[in-house]
Amino acid sequence: MRLYINNDWKFIKQYSDELLDINYDESNMETVRLPHTVVETPFNYFDEGIYQMISGYRKVIIPDESWKDKHVFMTVEASAHESTVYINGNKLITHSCGYTAYKVDLSPYLVWNQENVIVIKVDSNESLNQPPFGNVIDYMTYGGIYREIYLEIKNKSYIKDVFPKVSIVDNLVTLSSKVEIENNDNCIIRQELYDLDNRLIAKFKEQELIHKVDNIKLWDIENPNLYNLKTILYNDGTIYDERVDRVGFRTVEFRTDGFYLNNKKVKLRGLNRHQSYPYVGYAMPKSMQINDAKVLKYELGLNAVRTSHYPQSHHFINACDELGLLVFTEIPGWQHIGNEDWKNQAINNTRDMVLEYRNHPSIILWGVRINESMDDNQFYQKTNDVAHSLDSTRQTSGVRFIQKSSLLEDVYSYNDFSHDGTNLGTLKKKKVTPDINKGYLISEYNGHMFPTKSFDSEDHKVSHMMRHATVVDGYYSQCDVAGGFGWCMADYNTHKDFGSGDRICYHGVLDMFRNPKLASYVYSSQKDDEDILEVSSMMDIGEHPACLAKDVYAVTNADSVKLYKNDKFIKEFTNTPFKNMPHGPILIDDFIGDSMEKDEGFSHKKAEDIKKVLLAANKYGLAHLPFNMVLLAAKCVLVRGMKISDAYSLYNKYVSNWGGNYTTYKFEAIKNGKVVKTQIRKAVKVVDLDIKVSHTNLKEENTYDVSAIQIKAVDDNNVVLPFYQEAVTLSVTGPIEIIGPSVVTLRGGMAGTYVKTLGQTGKAKLYINGNNIQKTVEFNIE
Ligand code: GAL
Repeated sequence: MRLYINNDWKFIKQYSDELLDINYDESNMETVRLPHTVVETPFNYFDEGIYQMISGYRKVIIPDESWKDKHVFMTVEASAHESTVYINGNKLITHSCGYTAYKVDLSPYLVWNQENVIVIKVDSNESLNQPPFGNVIDYMTYGGIYREIYLEIKNKSYIKDVFPKVSIVDNLVTLSSKVEIENNDNCIIRQELYDLDNRLIAKFKEQELIHKVDNIKLWDIENPNLYNLKTILYNDGTIYDERVDRVGFRTVEFRTDGFYLNNKKVKLRGLNRHQSYPYVGYAMPKSMQINDAKVLKYELGLNAVRTSHYPQSHHFINACDELGLLVFTEIPGWQHIGNEDWKNQAINNTRDMVLEYRNHPSIILWGVRINESMDDNQFYQKTNDVAHSLDSTRQTSGVRFIQKSSLLEDVYSYNDFSHDGTNLGTLKKKKVTPDINKGYLISEYNGHMFPTKSFDSEDHKVSHMMRHATVVDGYYSQCDVAGGFGWCMADYNTHKDFGSGDRICYHGVLDMFRNPKLASYVYSSQKDDEDILEVSSMMDIGEHPACLAKDVYAVTNADSVKLYKNDKFIKEFTNTPFKNMPHGPILIDDFIGDSMEKDEGFSHKKAEDIKKVLLAANKYGLAHLPFNMVLLAAKCVLVRGMKISDAYSLYNKYVSNWGGNYTTYKFEAIKNGKVVKTQIRKAVKVVDLDIKVSHTNLKEENTYDVSAIQIKAVDDNNVVLPFYQEAVTLSVTGPIEIIGPSVVTLRGGMAGTYVKTLGQTGKAKLYINGNNIQKTVEFNIE
């Protein structure tokens, strides 16, 4: 059993050895709860120096008498970045990785019936000689004990590790486990396999043997069936230790022609995720980790995620196990390879990562190279060997930005930044990998090729969306590409060398609060279990240079889209330039329909010619009509007898519409002949705030809980107003606290905040006040 010790830690920004003194006066220390960040950061424009320090954490525990003669293990799930643990002044360990867990045995130094002092010295300086440090890094690295800490009390004989291995060959499902016992005092092991309803499925005595298991429901993306494997260590009727490990019965393999899950080919459609959030950096508790997995799976409709560029919270990966989201995880690092000590640490990190994470069925691939580093065969032979020796069930890879680099791994992962908005979405596999027989995947694309803020111009946001669609369509068109992971899920704080100068990389399809940008709908519209329609334009021509509206797209999973202008049906559209992905955005390129014929009374041929010219004028402007359109316009005047003045009035009526009545555009998404979704674009008269809350039932479990609140300025049709940048003020009553500032501005019509619980139960409220708009969110804290 785990005893979480996340509360009542004392924290100080300057560590000193005096903290080790049992009688140290803690009055100058702050009381904190884990996950904790050494400093809360502003939203943007802050220096990375503010989180770099050697800080100290101190906690007093009074061990229970029943722990005598036992091991008292303490696991720190992550602290950034180099941590040294002391108990009663005795140094136990220095752990030089901010992204993997470490475990110490406190028992040799515990004293009974009195206070014992745990001190953790945490160095969050980016000058450390360990990955990812040593050169520049495109993400902030923060500091502090940002994941949880728990104790486990174990007998002298205990189960050190269990690694269940699944195989499925021709419908024959088998399980074998590697079980490691410490001090095996003639103990015996037995294992019991339970389904999630706690029904016993099978029992095993010889755990190392390969056991056939019947009636198993496989784990896959749609049905992520999980089982619990209980391992019991006993002797003479006495149970010495037990543990439960999660098992998902599935096989994963990258082959020459793609990725296979349970022998079925699956195209990986994913994004890269950084584990950071506004204000608190890495320090977010369970519910926020789960929330990100849900956003990826349910909102964005993805089947895969890459945990760039380090192993992430078990809460996140557990959620991936439970939701059916495939994970490509990797050792910490960014482009730079350091000296021998540094490399040895990276090899240790590979070992720690595989041992710590290999029981997650969602993990399909180990990244054993430093992201985007150069070849170093000696070094990478070791990381590959470590991963293969500790896990024979998964392949290795490593992310490159170089082509035809030395391929020691099973899969070539390549950051394909070749798409620039004008060319094909992806390179051919054979151009990139030195061995086309091995698996190949695209680990990143877009990102820095086209930073996009939620408050950028509409044209910019449409290009961002188009670039994502082009690359996704590109990898769908190549059947030998396993799939792709776009850069990236959400905007993130970064170092001065990267991003837009305000310490943010605006590379997300979501903003930092996980609010959607237009490009995010390229992903969400690939799913089939929810109807999606997002029209790429607000239909305000003044937003575009020279008032020229570019192409409009309906980003949708519908069969077709019908357009109505002031309730008059214009046209039904089905055409998409993206033919390979499941649902390519549909091009809406006719806002005139049959009006020339029906309303203006032109003959069919004349109407068609005039419409072509008007639509071209809409796109290129009168002054820049393509030559064939100039000829057509001339034909309308000279041959078809149209007056120039009439031509101008048609232009004003159907293209520019200045001074005309308000135009309401209605877009209907049609599926199986039915309207499944509607979007309206019309002149805005009222502004409201739309509030979306991750969850209102907050739970004080092993630590505090956090709820994410997304705030959007919308019109009366719930359309986000992209240039509403006003402030809202936030205040709370009851046992919650706001994370970050209490006045936030909307950016691109969207903002966010977080509230956290304070260790008490009860009712709480968050008040959100904008310009004469007041919203209240009620929370219940259990
Ligand atoms: C890649 C890198 C990512 C991120 C991205 C931005 O080269 O691996 O971490 O910096 O570029 O596009």
